Amino acid sequence: MTTDNGKQGWQPTRNDWVFMLIVLTVIVVLILGTSERTTKATPDDATHRAITSHKACMTCHGEHGIRPQPAGHVKATQCFQCHQQPAGWKGA
Ligand code: HEC
Ligand code: HEC
Repeated sequence: MTTDNGKQGWQPTRNDWVFMLIVLTVIVVLILGTSERTTKATPDDATHRAITSHKACMTCHGEHGIRPQPAGHVKATQCFQCHQQPAGWKGA
């Protein structure tokens, strides 16, 4: 297509509109989905900057720690995949 506005010679059919509506719906659902799942960032304090291992995190955030993860929290070990790490954090 080398027309000036790319639309000349093409009129959307009913099916094209249906398709575009579906694409738009998927995009909106994805955007809403990501904002719902926003996790809390890891606090930027001396404690959290110093920790470098999952095991260390769990001494406080394990079942009997001072700040346990909520019940049903994922068992994943890559905390920073979901909780943004503090700026300037240097760890494993
Ligand atoms: C020495 C104990 C201790 C260790 C070790 C520790 N934390 Fe925390 N963490 C806390 C406390 C206490 C809070 C809540 C108070 C605050 O906001 O500082 C907290 C809060 C958090 C929060 C914010 C959620 C909330 O409850 O406000 C996240 C996310 C978090 N920690 C992740 C981690 C990760 C990831 C590690 C390992 C890299 C880690 N923590 C290691 C004590 C600890
Ligand atoms: C797969 C994503 C994911 C991973 C990986 C993950 N978390 Fe979470 N975490 C969440 C979600 C979602 C919540 C609940 C929403 C919120 O309040 O942040 C949560 C909540 C928490 C809370 C309580 C926050 C509050 O509101 O008091 C703590 C503490 C916490 N996580 C610590 C950790 C630690 C430590 C690790 C690493 C062992 C970890 N998380 C790994 C997704 C994750």
